[in-house]
Amino acid sequence: MTQELTSPSPAPQAPGTGRGPGWWRDAVIYQVYVRSFADSDGDGIGDLRGARERLPYLKDLGVDAVWLTPFYASPQADGGYDVADYRAVDPLFGTLQDADDLIRTAHDLGLRVIVDIVPNHTSDRHPWFQDPELARQRYLFRPGKGESGELPPNDWESVFGGPAWTRTDRGDWYLHLFAPEQPDLNWDNPEVHAEFEAIMRFWLDLGVDGFRVDVAHGMIKAPGLPDIGHGAQAQLIGAQVLPFFDQDGVHAIHRAWRRLLDGYGDARGKQVIGVAEAWAPTAERLALYVRPDELHQAFNFQFLNAPWQSDALRSVIDASLAATASVGAPTTWVLSNHDVVRHTTRLGGSLARARAATLLMLALPGSAYLYQGEELGLPEVTDLPDEVRQDPAFFRGGRATGAVGPGTDTESAPDGVAAGGQDGFRDGCRVPLPWSGELPPYGFGPGGSWLPQPADWGGLTVAAQTGDPASTLELYRAALELRRRLPGLGDGPMSWAPAPDGVLALTRPGLLCTVNTLGHDVGLPAPGTPLLSSAPVTVDDATAQLPGDSCTWWAI
Ligand code: GLC
Repeated sequence: MTQELTSPSPAPQAPGTGRGPGWWRDAVIYQVYVRSFADSDGDGIGDLRGARERLPYLKDLGVDAVWLTPFYASPQADGGYDVADYRAVDPLFGTLQDADDLIRTAHDLGLRVIVDIVPNHTSDRHPWFQDPELARQRYLFRPGKGESGELPPNDWESVFGGPAWTRTDRGDWYLHLFAPEQPDLNWDNPEVHAEFEAIMRFWLDLGVDGFRVDVAHGMIKAPGLPDIGHGAQAQLIGAQVLPFFDQDGVHAIHRAWRRLLDGYGDARGKQVIGVAEAWAPTAERLALYVRPDELHQAFNFQFLNAPWQSDALRSVIDASLAATASVGAPTTWVLSNHDVVRHTTRLGGSLARARAATLLMLALPGSAYLYQGEELGLPEVTDLPDEVRQDPAFFRGGRATGAVGPGTDTESAPDGVAAGGQDGFRDGCRVPLPWSGELPPYGFGPGGSWLPQPADWGGLTVAAQTGDPASTLELYRAALELRRRLPGLGDGPMSWAPAPDGVLALTRPGLLCTVNTLGHDVGLPAPGTPLLSSAPVTVDDATAQLPGDSCTWWAI
């Protein structure tokens, strides 16, 4: 698809352009899952125009940047993470001109734009895979084992379930760590490196401010592709280094990309960033992805996976801060995304906990990622009928992705809600957003919605919550407004203050944040003046009553 595009719009001017402190160090970045955000044309599928029309909402919410999930040409075998053309917009989502318009409008509003890049695999409809000669060089084909090559080359399993190998009609096998429609690229081939650098430049020329690097820990496989020796391998992701994940060789790729990003940004007086979706077994190994010459940020899934217990939260926070401090990077925090159970449901089906967890996250030093709809307190949709599901993991009997690992709060999850989703699948967190009205599709678009929305979401719409000080939407707005206004939030020092069992107290310059993880009120000497609370807090005779499952920010 070639279209005449105007020159890229300037990125918002803010302190930290060029080298220097960095806008991203404490940015709040909002994940737009394009398919489910807003639909402009009535086909029931969110699109770029719909997203562009709603950018003022995100500006008003108070975020600094948006991350758009893949909208590239794709057969949609895995929600667009199977890319057939990295330089084209899928007609489902619009045109390249729509992408250009969206980036321009975002910049006009002072919002930065991050796009996904998917380097571990392409779609099997990608022209490289379609050409048998090119495919042999650029993907991972191997002869099978057994007398006539009828067995897969090794025992690796796909993250989505089943073997990680599919046999071609020519008799050999190709590797796909995800769905068979997502063949893994051969990163030993320099042409693969060159192509991804060219793709990045293409989107940088269109004005994007960074990339979320999908499966950033996956591109390099252990030499010889050794067997693992046992099954249930998806359970090991994020728990140990595997011959296909978190191999040391991936870091050379990230170093090359950092050079590209810095070189590109320096030449234009702006900072463009890379954020790694990397599943590493420890905070220390994750920190390797954000060494000064590698990517800028990495998602901190250890925090996402922490149970709602003060000791566990505290040790995850300490480990995260220590590991990133050791390499001079800021920490990122995330509670929900398109691969995991929404945190309202994951934290025991408790909106009170979800609101408290969010206020805690936004009080921590570093950058925070929000997933669309969490600002409305949306729960996971746990009763989708099988016939509407689209997650490939559902059809292959696997699990979602490695983002849900050991430590997920399964004990406090409501009945039937397993660690990886209502059943380990991801459609339940991808149900289109409710914007307004009493009935589906709740203003999502002029048509229906690709996944059915619950009948009782009328009270959760943006319109219903706007202006209601008790709503989750207004809590997010107030928190983001304070975060921008108070110099002590965002990047900077943090320390723990003494607190009773089950309560966390952390101080930032000028601010103290208390979190009561217990299910009942806890009284303590009022630490200051309440600024914002996830639940009504009372102060009587200098004694504060912290409601159960609440978080409060205090001016000190
Ligand atoms: C990442 C994406 C996920 C996708 C997978 C394969 O984990 O977040 O949605 O299925 O990569 O690309």
